[in-house]
Amino acid sequence: MPDIMKIKSYQPGKPIEEVKRELGLKTIVKLASNENPLGPSNKAIEAIKKCASEINIYPDGGGYYLKKALTEKLGLGEEEIILGNGSDEIVSLISRVFLQKGEEAIMGDPSFLMYKIDTQLSQARIIPIPLNNFRLNLPAMTKAITSKTKLIFISNPNNPTGTIVEEKEVKSFLKDLPFRIIVIFDEAYFEYVEDENYPQTINLLNEKNNIIILRTFSKIYGLAGLRIGYGITRPQIIEMLNRARPPFNVNSLAQAAALASLKDKYQIERSKKLIKEEKEYLYSNLHKMKLPYIPTQANFILIKLGTKASYVEKRLLQDGIIIRGMKAYNLTQYIRLTIGTREQNERFIRALHKIFLSI
Ligand SMILES: Cc1ncc(COP(=O)(O)O)c(C=O)c1O
Repeated sequence: MPDIMKIKSYQPGKPIEEVKRELGLKTIVKLASNENPLGPSNKAIEAIKKCASEINIYPDGGGYYLKKALTEKLGLGEEEIILGNGSDEIVSLISRVFLQKGEEAIMGDPSFLMYKIDTQLSQARIIPIPLNNFRLNLPAMTKAITSKTKLIFISNPNNPTGTIVEEKEVKSFLKDLPFRIIVIFDEAYFEYVEDENYPQTINLLNEKNNIIILRTFSKIYGLAGLRIGYGITRPQIIEMLNRARPPFNVNSLAQAAALASLKDKYQIERSKKLIKEEKEYLYSNLHKMKLPYIPTQANFILIKLGTKASYVEKRLLQDGIIIRGMKAYNLTQYIRLTIGTREQNERFIRALHKIFLSI
C-alpha cells in the first residue's frame, strides 16, 4: 500500500455558484483551469441531446466510432489508440500498469501535478528535474536516468509555464534512450501551439522508443465537464493499458460529444484565433503594468506578481475573478491565468490595476 497520508490531494476549487453567494457577487469569471471560454461546439451540444435519451444503456466500452474517427484524422490504426476518462485517467493507468514499487518517474519541476500523485500511488519515486529558464530541461532529464527509471513525463506545452520543448531537442533526447523507459508526451494544449519548432510526435512513434502521446477534449474542444481524452502509442502498450482500464470508462455523452466536435473545424479555428489575439492583448497590458510574464504556447499565462501574489489572488477573488495560485507548484510569486474572452481579460486587467493602485 502507498503511504496515503504522504500524498497531497489535488485541491478542487469551490463551485462558482457558491463563491458568488459567499461574496455577494452577480458574476464570476473563472480563469483558473485552462478551459475554453467559448464553450463547446454546438454540434457537441446537439449530439449530447440526441444521446441523452439512451443513457439507460451502458456506453460502448470500445469507443468504436470515436476511435475510428480519430484514427482516420490522425492516420493511425485503431489498435494504437486508447480512450480515457480525461487524459488524467490515462496518466493514472500508465502509472498503475508500468510503475512498480521502488521504480522512478522523471518529471519537470514544476509540471502537471497529477504525475506526482500517480507516481506516489504506485509507491514509486518522483524524480523532479528543475526547469531551465521556465522550460523542461531534457538533457538534465537524460542525466537523471538510472537503472530504476521507468517513466518520463513531458508536458508539452508544460503546465504551468506554457513553454515547449522543440523537435530537435526531443529527437536528440530520444536517440539513446533505453527501450525499457516509456516517455509520455502530454499534449493537452498542442492545438494552441504557434511555434513551428513544436515536435510532431506522431511522426516520432517508432520501433526504437516507447512513446505515449496524450491528448484531450477538455481544452480546445471545450468538453472538460464530460471527461474524455485519449492516448496514442504502440499496440503492445495499448493492450497492456486495456487490462487495467475499467470496461466503461468513457461515458456515452462524452463519446458522442467528442465525435461531433471533431467535425466542427470552425470551433477549433475560432478558439485558436481567440487565444492568439487575447494573448497579445494580455501581453501588452502586462507590459504596461511592468509585470513580467512567461511567453506562452498554451491558453494560459504564468504571471509574476512578486511577494504580494497570494494577497492579489485573494483580492481578485473578492472582485469575482478566480485565477490559479501557484503555491502547490512552488512558484509563490506567480499566478497562472487562463486566457479568457476580451470581456473577461479586460475585467482581470481592470481588477489588477485597481489592486496594484491600492497596495
Ligand atoms: C498538462 C495537462 N495534462 C492533462 C490534463 C488533464 O486533462 P483531462 O481533462 O483530459 O484529464 C491537464 C489539465 O489541466 C493538463 O494541464
